[in-house]
Amino acid sequence: MIILAIESSCDETACAVVEMAEGKRRILSNTVYSQIATHALYGGVVPEIASRAHIDAVSRVVSEAVKESGVSLKDVEAVGVTYAPGLIGSLLVGVSFAKSLASSLGVPLIPVDHIKGHTAAAYFTSDTLEAPFLALVVSGGHTSLYSVNTPTEFEEIGSTRDDAAGEAFDKIGRIIGLPYPGGAAMDRLAAEGFKHMPERLKEIKFPSPAISDGTLDFSFSGLKTFALNLINTERQKLGLSDKDPLPEDFRETVAAGFTGAVVEGITSKLGEALIKTGTKQMVLAGGVAANTHLRAAVAATAERLGAALFVPPISLCGDNGAMIGAQAYYEYNAGVRATSYLNAFASDEGARAAERDGTDGIVRNR
Ligand code: KG4
Ligand code: ZN
Repeated sequence: MIILAIESSCDETACAVVEMAEGKRRILSNTVYSQIATHALYGGVVPEIASRAHIDAVSRVVSEAVKESGVSLKDVEAVGVTYAPGLIGSLLVGVSFAKSLASSLGVPLIPVDHIKGHTAAAYFTSDTLEAPFLALVVSGGHTSLYSVNTPTEFEEIGSTRDDAAGEAFDKIGRIIGLPYPGGAAMDRLAAEGFKHMPERLKEIKFPSPAISDGTLDFSFSGLKTFALNLINTERQKLGLSDKDPLPEDFRETVAAGFTGAVVEGITSKLGEALIKTGTKQMVLAGGVAANTHLRAAVAATAERLGAALFVPPISLCGDNGAMIGAQAYYEYNAGVRATSYLNAFASDEGARAAERDGTDGIVRNR
């Protein structure tokens, strides 16, 4: 089945054409237009600017993806689109465009949850991966563990009670002077810290984001506050203002200590989840799944507990259309269809409430 999918939930305007069938998953094109350079000027995503940039880019990105795929629009059998969660104005651009496109082509429109989409990126790593599996999704907005019981039924078994890991990486990155988004630069700086500052790192006890109350939940606010206090104390000690650059070895220490704590906290809950559920296959997904330290530690945890690990290549960890196309295929097979009333939802809760009320513009199990 040839699916064209659109993703516009945050600061990437993306479109892909994928071919999905039983035992066959292929990406024919995957065009991502990133707005990061625009938002970097403001130190974070500015929602109104993001919506406008999506409007400017969406038509061009879709044309490019179609051209690159080698198929023509008349070969497209369904249109997939992210409808939740994300920035509401940004989501609405993709949803509106996808509605018109599906209607003009006379093909079904398939609504896709962004988080399910991130997880679905793992299908491209194997033609045989099928639910049930455990999914660990670590992104700018989520840090969650799901029992994926069927390709479309995700049961959340653990999640963050405050910030998401990606958000925390970006915040600490900004405070130590890295450009937005700080995640990838924190990754590289942490590698230097682990190499150069092993003794110093042993002395500082960064708190774990794993909540020790028997749940599979996380909290990143304590770790974030700890890192901020450490940075403020260092500035005071050296007589530096907020604008002065911090010494490189200190930045490396913070990046490594912070990353180490995030990775330890996430993998300890992952280990508990694998044991509790007895699952023997798992997926790691989301923007933060690009983190080299997290990838290595999750691989070690999965291996220790005898679980097969499926993790998308780094190019498919960040927001993209291919992952939405893959999930759209499974939603399509499960009988999920958007009507012309499809709405967009900023939060998971909003989407679920509208589903309960029957006001989300989605028909299920036809
Ligand atoms: O999944 P994503 O592209 O967007 C959301 O759905 O939120 O995730 C973006 C997040 C950002 O916070 C970014 O800093 C983070 O992923 N990120 C990383 C790395 N690459 C991207 N965080 C840590 N290490 C990385 N290598
Ligand atoms: Zn995302």
